[in-house]
Amino acid sequence: MGLKLLVIGEGGREHCLAWALARSSQVEQVYVTPGNGGTATEPKCCNLTLNSLDFAGLIRFARQEAIDLTIAGPEAPLAEGIADAFQAAGLLLFGPTRAGARIEASKAWAKKLMHRAGVPTAACRVFTDIQQARGYVRDTPVPLVVKADGLAQGKGVTVAMDTDTALDALDQLVRLGECGRTVVIEEYLSGEEVSVLAFTDGTTILPMLAAQDHKRIGVGDTGPNTGGMGAYAPAPLVTPEVMARIEREVLAPTVNALAREGIDYRGVLYAGLMIDREGTPRVIEFNCRLGDPETQVLLPLLETPLEEVLLSTVHRQLEQVHLQWRPGACACIVVSADGYPGPYRQGDPITGLDRAREGALIFHAGTRQVDGKLLSGGGRVLGVSALGAGLEQALALAYAAVGEVDFTGAYHRPDIGWRALSQTK
Ligand code: AMP
Ligand code: GLY
Repeated sequence: MGLKLLVIGEGGREHCLAWALARSSQVEQVYVTPGNGGTATEPKCCNLTLNSLDFAGLIRFARQEAIDLTIAGPEAPLAEGIADAFQAAGLLLFGPTRAGARIEASKAWAKKLMHRAGVPTAACRVFTDIQQARGYVRDTPVPLVVKADGLAQGKGVTVAMDTDTALDALDQLVRLGECGRTVVIEEYLSGEEVSVLAFTDGTTILPMLAAQDHKRIGVGDTGPNTGGMGAYAPAPLVTPEVMARIEREVLAPTVNALAREGIDYRGVLYAGLMIDREGTPRVIEFNCRLGDPETQVLLPLLETPLEEVLLSTVHRQLEQVHLQWRPGACACIVVSADGYPGPYRQGDPITGLDRAREGALIFHAGTRQVDGKLLSGGGRVLGVSALGAGLEQALALAYAAVGEVDFTGAYHRPDIGWRALSQTK
């Protein structure tokens, strides 16, 4: 009998997780809740309608179906303590406890942890009094970065190039309510961003390949922030020397600090980093989970069976695992709905996926199956990933596949990978 797994979430990341798990001969069944139009038709996969915050319902299902491992995709259930609830029920779940998830759920807490651990990051001030925050902004030279302390679904950060923008950002955070009550104001870091995600069981740390996301909606990294419009890996900016520094200066001290605080951190530690001209890494933020769309370029490159890595993480046996990567590169182009990241169109039929699938991997994000038809139903609709001998080939294949896909108002960035391509030319 093979493994039965449960993936929680509904994005492209979760489709990719389900796909990567289902392709292993050791895996018999992957349940995804709530899943999307892609996980509904993926071989060995089956969608459920359980809510990701209904821990009692999820635990009941996991017991009934003898689920071997549950994987929490997004941060919200982790921040609400899903790992603690599963542990208390004697069930295995991949992802940190509520205390560990604070590294993402409270930026002020994460900053204090980094400070105690000597991890390089932007200097910051934390305010709970908005008038004091305003006064500080008026007295401090720009640029400044204004952040909500709590989870804000990507809407909590403003990079302010002038004082008025910073003051407006503070007003907006007050309107956000709970997650904006505590505000972090930090120094602006210049350089290039990369994501380095690592599996950790609290002792052993296994970094994945460095990936680069593209957070802005527009060409040349312009316009408003999104969940991520595309990614590629490996990122050539992260040379072996830079990766060694990231391990030594960021990942190891952070995992050690978590352990010293008595926090049981087993899962993924995602470091969003700014790398300066000298190759010095500084932390922009930590996440307590896999990235989206980084997952859609990392898992296709991972040769080690994913279920082995995840189970070894929860069993604290990661020292026995060696992450094996395919040679070459992977690129993912996100196709989004008209209007995204603002209010967007939905309910449009999606065509061309069979042709697109010939040269690429299609990971659904905001899609749903309705009466046998595939409809758009989210801001980010699809992630189209392709593997290649190098980044240029991976991008060419991914863009060719994107060209086959169509729905009314479909949008994608035409310049994913531009930073890496300009570096290698
Ligand atoms: P976060 O939600 O913390 O990842 O922030 C969203 C985006 O804001 C990041 O991807 C960066 O592009 C930018 N950002 C955040 N903090 C800083 C900083 N201290 N300096 C420069 N850019 C930043
Ligand atoms: N790609 C950004 C994130 O997952 O937070």
